Amino acid sequence: MDQRIGYDMTRTHSLALALVLLTAWAGPADPPAADVVLADFEGDSYGTWTTTGTAFGDRPAAGTLPGQMPVGGFRGKGLVNTFRGGDKSTGTLTSPEFTVERNYVSFLIGGGGYAGKTCLNLQVGGKTVRTATGPNVNAGGSEELAPAFWDVTEFRGKKARLVVVDDATGGWGHVNVDHVVLTDTRPAVPAPARRELKLTQHYLHLPVRTGEGKAGPTARVALDVDGKTVREFDIELSDRPEWFAHLDVSAWKGKTATLRADKLPPGGKALELVTQADTIWDADKVYREPLRPLAHFTARRGWLNDPNGLVFAGGEYHLFFQHNPYGWHWGNMHWGHAVSRDLVRWEERPIALYPPRHGDWAFSGSAVVDRDNTAGWKTGTNDVLVAAYTSTGRGECVVYSNDHGRSWTEHAGNPVVKHVGRDPRLVWHAPTGQWVMAVYTEAEGKRWIAFHTSPDLKAWTYRSRIEGFFECPDLFELPVDGDSKTRKWVLTAADSNYVIGTFDGREFKSDTPRLTGSRGVGFYAAQTVSHDPKGRIVQIGWLQAPSPGAPFNQAMSLPLQLKLIGTPHGPRLTWTPVEELAALREKTHRFLPRDVAPGADPLGGIAADALEVEAVVDLKQATHVEFRVRGVAVGYDVAKQELSVGKQRVPAPLRAGKLKLRVYVDRTCAEVFAADGLVYVPLPVIPAAADRGASLSVRGGAAHFEELNVHELGSIWEPRGR
Ligand code: FRU
Repeated sequence: MDQRIGYDMTRTHSLALALVLLTAWAGPADPPAADVVLADFEGDSYGTWTTTGTAFGDRPAAGTLPGQMPVGGFRGKGLVNTFRGGDKSTGTLTSPEFTVERNYVSFLIGGGGYAGKTCLNLQVGGKTVRTATGPNVNAGGSEELAPAFWDVTEFRGKKARLVVVDDATGGWGHVNVDHVVLTDTRPAVPAPARRELKLTQHYLHLPVRTGEGKAGPTARVALDVDGKTVREFDIELSDRPEWFAHLDVSAWKGKTATLRADKLPPGGKALELVTQADTIWDADKVYREPLRPLAHFTARRGWLNDPNGLVFAGGEYHLFFQHNPYGWHWGNMHWGHAVSRDLVRWEERPIALYPPRHGDWAFSGSAVVDRDNTAGWKTGTNDVLVAAYTSTGRGECVVYSNDHGRSWTEHAGNPVVKHVGRDPRLVWHAPTGQWVMAVYTEAEGKRWIAFHTSPDLKAWTYRSRIEGFFECPDLFELPVDGDSKTRKWVLTAADSNYVIGTFDGREFKSDTPRLTGSRGVGFYAAQTVSHDPKGRIVQIGWLQAPSPGAPFNQAMSLPLQLKLIGTPHGPRLTWTPVEELAALREKTHRFLPRDVAPGADPLGGIAADALEVEAVVDLKQATHVEFRVRGVAVGYDVAKQELSVGKQRVPAPLRAGKLKLRVYVDRTCAEVFAADGLVYVPLPVIPAAADRGASLSVRGGAAHFEELNVHELGSIWEPRGR
């Protein structure tokens, strides 16, 4: 029984150990040495293990702690559970010294948070030589402990200690540990793997297999350089890759790095498949994939969601975006980056914001130009850009850039706002000469948008909040019917519903009830561009349009100009594709003004993967009008004054007695605009590859088409004519 280390085991446990020993000894001629249970945490104290802080209390936990989701997967009745006192508590639990007498340390580990912050560490000679963090990546996930192990052959015979660490000062994060065993039998659980490589090129290419519809098993991969983990993320690493994600390693060119995967299937070779190159994988095929939208922004590789930091500066529009560079699904949130001179053609740039560590993700936010250098961060002649984003491990943070968003510096005083919330939207409020941050906040069990103000983007003061909005607030001012003397503020959030009212720099007072924004499917988390040079309010939203089987996923909406126009119910928002998009029209079929009778179809000779239709219709005797654009049905029911897009049905008033329609259909989505933009209906849809045309039919009687144009659109990724 001396093989255990100073841990006060119960009698039941001694019996269990005896059984383990017996089983081990009952093997064939040269049996492996018996397992040594280092700790099972079954007693009513930690024995000779020592604690600091409050996260561990004075004894192992008997399972789930108050306020915690049910904890499972541990052995016996007790385990280490640092949720004691909630997620905020911190501390360490250290074992007495023991000798590494076997080749493996196996254990059960649960919880999650941040690698190196909420973890089980193995120390040899006072240095951490192995570390493990619970498998739970996001708050609210499973509390199930999972088996894991380290190969410690290289430390055999050396003295070591185990240290359980909970240093999750930022809030969420805890670690659960149980049943730590020294063994010579390689555990049959996915094994960690590592590979050293000299970094000679710009990118590492990582083999990925994308789960069909559902995310596949992920490994946590880390890149260590000079003994420091410089990148760490979750990835569907596979021996049978469908595509390769790229990891920019140019910052460490010439160095030898270690690539680690926390678990690969037994015999897994994925790390051997990692290659280096100066271009991204299959660079010559990018933007030429069959499902690549032509008119809508998509990331070269990986996942995107919310547009972030939309701002015009230095002659360019910047589109930052929520991005998982390593997978087809949501995760590993970075800020991707693209620039455009015309809002139409985009060039994707290197990633703008990396998460500082695994689990501390760069969630959504916004960007502004600090023209008056209120923060004092301007170093040269360029406009200084300031972005605010949610660091999930810290709070609302600000960063700044003096090279037009190519590189960013963290403000030393981050986080600038700490609360339960996310998605800071920065706005310069000229009348009061101060910065405003509209930010989603949870308080008193309710959802709010809070307003904070600041003279310098660093020191923020809470001013007020308005209830009932969820995620990604946006705040902007617009003239009504283009009359600059009648201006109104609009407050909106992720679902695109909005209120209109006044904003005095501190408090938003709405004149309206909650109004419906987009009438379509999958338009979310939209944001407007700060400082449009034409003085417009231009919005881009995340269009939740999947591209199954492609090495990228999801799209951005077209850039849309927002206006407020008068209606019998008061001012309302309108959405119109920005005028610059006319540049995409490669071939225009103009069908002169004409009557179209039932049974007649004037459209013909149209063939393209991306189409735009413009129609102004005096309906006359017609009761129904229906376009099919690459098979996507866009119809109008005159009696009901109702527009249909696919299966969507939405009210759409005639304007001046006429139906005005604008339809875009692309490879993974459609966007339809009616009633002078009062009605905006986006829709994720994948038209049949062979259906590249458009047709028109009317019912009930002839309608007069005052305008009828169909444009074949080129690609935003290629110069015109190629
Ligand atoms: C909205 C959102 C934001 C968050 C981001 C994370 O889609 O949930 O609230 O910042 O996505 O990717």
